[in-house]
Amino acid sequence: MKIVLGVGGGIAAYKAAELSRALMERDFEVQVVMTHAAEEFIRPLTFAALTNRKVITDLFASRSGEEVLASSVEHIRVARENQMLVVAPATADLLARFAHGLANDFLSTLYLAFTGKVILAPAMNTEMWNHAATRANVETLVGRGNIVLPPAEGSLACGEVGAGRLPDPVWIADAVQSLAAARHDMDGETVLVTAGPTQEPIDPVRYLTNRSSGKMGYAIAAAAAERGARVVLVSGPVNLPEPFGVQVVRVRSAVEMRNAVMAKLPESTIIVKAAAVADYHVANPPKQKIKKTPARLSLELDPTPDILAEVGRNKGDRLLIGFAAETTALVEEARRKMASKNADMVVANLVNQEGTGFESDENEVTLVMRTGEAVQVPRASKKIVAGRIFDQALKLRLALHALHDA
Ligand code: CTP
Repeated sequence: MKIVLGVGGGIAAYKAAELSRALMERDFEVQVVMTHAAEEFIRPLTFAALTNRKVITDLFASRSGEEVLASSVEHIRVARENQMLVVAPATADLLARFAHGLANDFLSTLYLAFTGKVILAPAMNTEMWNHAATRANVETLVGRGNIVLPPAEGSLACGEVGAGRLPDPVWIADAVQSLAAARHDMDGETVLVTAGPTQEPIDPVRYLTNRSSGKMGYAIAAAAAERGARVVLVSGPVNLPEPFGVQVVRVRSAVEMRNAVMAKLPESTIIVKAAAVADYHVANPPKQKIKKTPARLSLELDPTPDILAEVGRNKGDRLLIGFAAETTALVEEARRKMASKNADMVVANLVNQEGTGFESDENEVTLVMRTGEAVQVPRASKKIVAGRIFDQALKLRLALHALHDA
């Protein structure tokens, strides 16, 4: 596969040399494009020697006769010839220019002309990475479908410690390779995934929650993104890294999750409700901390909104996938939930088994479908189970359309 490696002007530019080599070793044909700032850190000759190819640094490489005409469309030629654009290090300045569509050098002009997959590996000082301007630019770029590889934590060239390091070049090359190999059967889909538990406040310092780790929902979001979908992940409080190329909306309570889901529903084509939403909450928790007394304390709990049921009532022709965590009568309970909530598929799992379910890295589920079919997915990693859910979901949608048309 032919790819462009864009190198920005940061201290991590030297690591891009190792990355170009790691990409060549994985059989990519690599065309390096450097910004002028990158040339301050590393010379083009290094990349030319590693990739056996002339490095592009200028939008206007030549200023005489026909060559001007040729170079003025060079960015279009490079955009058409390459399937992926990888930018490492992507500096704060590059992220800002990409987000706002500026075209003031070869790399930013190429970005605008590029229709293939874009992978950005930011590296910068922690404060710059956390700045509201950079956060907004990253959100814009992820929302556009660009894949942003999260920077690593550690000590930075500026002497500070925090997030902002360019990840290990071999790790980046592996990520590029797995993204290049991914199937593209979910291009054009927008998948809305919910994940994790919810936290329902009892007072300002206490809450009700459950044992969900969010691992299944995060694996589902990652699987859809790798297959080309645009993914919005509405996540309850979990301690997991954000999957590549996914827009994450963080919420705490069932009501916040409901509001985020209903706001994102119109733009979605597939909804997967993997979150373990609390069924009850304290409707109006006190503003002050509840004080200890010798008397018994009772909490009055009200039902939370059933998000799956509400989406089911408003789903139109979107594909709706729910989950059922059960301890007995798995398939029967899943069928009952599918019918009562108007879901198209229910992913049913037994939560009282060792090694699968809530906190584990593996799962074993039964996919119960509106067409009446029930498909067993044997015990496997949550990522593999996520892949099987989408394999079946895409088939199910075709079957439902065929039934509708008949
Ligand atoms: N769910 C939801 N909103 C709630 C509760 C559950 O959207 N307030 C969704 C979950 O995300 C999951 C599905 O409903 O996709 C089933 O969750 P589960 O807890 O198994 O079912 P309940 O409907 O809560 O039924 P029960 O607790 O009686 O088993």
